[in-house]
Amino acid sequence: MTNLNILFIGDIVGRSGRKILKQKLPLLKQQYLVDFVFCNGENSAGGLGITASTAGELLSSGVDGITLGNHIWSQKIWLQQASHFRQVCRPLNAPDAWPGFDHVYIKKENHDVLLLSLLGQAFIKPVLKNPFNVIEEMLPKFKEKYRTKNIIIDFHAESTAEKITMGYFLENRVLAVLGTHTHVQTADEKILGNGTAFITDVGMTGPVNGVLGMSKIIAVERAVNLLPAMYNIEKDSYAMINAVLMTIDPIAGQTKKIERIQIFDHVFE
Ligand SMILES: [Fe+2]
Ligand SMILES: [Fe+2]
Repeated sequence: MTNLNILFIGDIVGRSGRKILKQKLPLLKQQYLVDFVFCNGENSAGGLGITASTAGELLSSGVDGITLGNHIWSQKIWLQQASHFRQVCRPLNAPDAWPGFDHVYIKKENHDVLLLSLLGQAFIKPVLKNPFNVIEEMLPKFKEKYRTKNIIIDFHAESTAEKITMGYFLENRVLAVLGTHTHVQTADEKILGNGTAFITDVGMTGPVNGVLGMSKIIAVERAVNLLPAMYNIEKDSYAMINAVLMTIDPIAGQTKKIERIQIFDHVFE
C-alpha cells in the first residue's frame, strides 16, 4: 500500500512569502517526497488579496491548489481573473454570485485530492452562509461526483473554538480540517478519530518580524496613537514558511500522521 504525502502551507504573505516559497519548495518536495502541495493565497498580493500574477507565481513554484479567505476581493482585479484559475478556490459557503471556483480537484497518476475552503462566522467579515450547514449538504455531493475520499478542508476562521468544532464535526469524513487566517501556527496538531488531521492554525509564510506579516512600526503607531495609518507589509528580509505535512492512506481516505513544519531564511539578497 502506497501512502501519499501532502503539504499544506499557511497564508502566503506578500513578496517575501512568495520568494521563500519559490526558494524552498523544490527542496521540501524532495526531502519529504511530497505528492500534492496546497496553500492559502489570500495575502499573496502585497499582503492583501491575490492577483493573476501572484496566483501564477505560486502555481509555478510547485503549488497544486490554492485556497483564499476573507481578503479574497482586496485586489479588485481578481473579480475579472478568478474564473481563469481552475486551481484556485473561493470559500464554498460564499454567495453563488462570487466569481471563480468553489473547489479544486487535482488528479495525478492514480491519485486524487479534492481541496475545499470554508469561511468561519465568528469575529470575521463578511459573514457568509453557515459553514457547518453548507459542508453537511455539499460533502456527499462532492464525494459522489468525484468518487473520492481524499478531501482536504481549509477552514479560514478567527475563533479557535469554531475551528476545533469543525474538526470534530468532520471527523472521519475528510482527510483534514486545517485552520488558517490567524497567521500564528498553533501546536495542537492531531489526528481525530480514525484519520482526520486537524490543526487550529497552520500559520503564515512571509516576514518573521512583523505583526502577522504587516509592518511592526505601523502596527505600534496605530496602537499607541489611535490614528488611522495604512498597513504596509513588513519589509524585513527574514522570512518563514509555516506548513503541515500529512501522510495519508489514499485508499482508506485516512490521514496517518500530521507534523508541523517551520523553515526560516533570508530572502531578496
Ligand atoms: Fe491571511
Ligand atoms: Fe484571513
